[in-house]
Amino acid sequence: MITEELNNEDLKQVEDFWNTHLCGKQFVDAKFPSKEFFELYRNFRYKKTHHLDTYIDWKGAKGKDVLEIGLGIGADGSRWAQNARTYTGVDLTAEAVYATKIHLDHLGLKGHIVQGNAEALVLPSNHFDIVYSHGVLHHTTNIENTFREVNRVLKPKGEFIVMLYSKGSFNYWFRIQFYFRLRLLFEILKNKLGGSSKGDWALHVKNFKQEGWSYLSWNNFPHRCTDGPDCKIANIYWQSEMVKMLENSGFTIEKTKKAHFPIGGHFPKLERFLASFMGFHQIIWARKR
Ligand SMILES: C[S@@+](CC[C@H](N)C(=O)[O-])C[C@H]1O[C@@H](n2cnc3c(N)ncnc32)[C@H](O)[C@@H]1O
Repeated sequence: MITEELNNEDLKQVEDFWNTHLCGKQFVDAKFPSKEFFELYRNFRYKKTHHLDTYIDWKGAKGKDVLEIGLGIGADGSRWAQNARTYTGVDLTAEAVYATKIHLDHLGLKGHIVQGNAEALVLPSNHFDIVYSHGVLHHTTNIENTFREVNRVLKPKGEFIVMLYSKGSFNYWFRIQFYFRLRLLFEILKNKLGGSSKGDWALHVKNFKQEGWSYLSWNNFPHRCTDGPDCKIANIYWQSEMVKMLENSGFTIEKTKKAHFPIGGHFPKLERFLASFMGFHQIIWARKR
């Protein structure tokens, strides 16, 4: 990898997890990495995460240099690469770099896609007009390092668009802390009585057996309830915490929006309305001071 060696075991775990769980791959039933696979993935993504095409001004990247941090399968990357003067993508994992490169190739788009760590970017200072990071930086070991790095690589007055998981949400309080917790207690009891669990619940039960009651603690359990039970770092923040960290890292907040209410993208208008005050995805537009 092209990043500075951090000698950070936790970050290695993050890398290992995402290398073996390419973000979103499980939702598409087609051969990876075929052209059909990427097409189906984009259809799925912009149906389920429909607010992205409404809230993110991809076309506003015309004539601009864009950096994306945390690539997954490279769908948003293809949106930026279609519009920007230059598109650079960085991800901690070889797998996301591979997927994004092939995705862009299939669409005939250009990008400079590299493996690297957002906490220590090997990229020049004062270079990018826009840095975009969607659903990524809550998974890293030190988010404030990443905000300082983003500030460094942005040009003066450059824009940072970031999505992080929100504590002020239905998903956090009702689905995770209440329903998932009760459901896991039920699954544990079922297993004790000789039954078995399926899918993610089987993984939760396995983790509970290994880690004991601390697995279900107020602070630990939510980490394991967003991107799968084996994803160990998934921080969920209050908006005020995100704003404070960004301001401390040299940004001014310009706009915030909440999105994503977990009803599967079937009723986009209702979902957007509910998400506007209880959504799990907190999007923040910040500007380098
Ligand atoms: C949940 S996926 C999100 C991907 C994509 N942005 C999306 O919305 O589908 C998280 C991605 O962030 C990457 N990631 C996590 N920590 C990172 C870090 N410190 N530096 C760079 N990438 C990181 C992971 O490798 C993974 O590909």
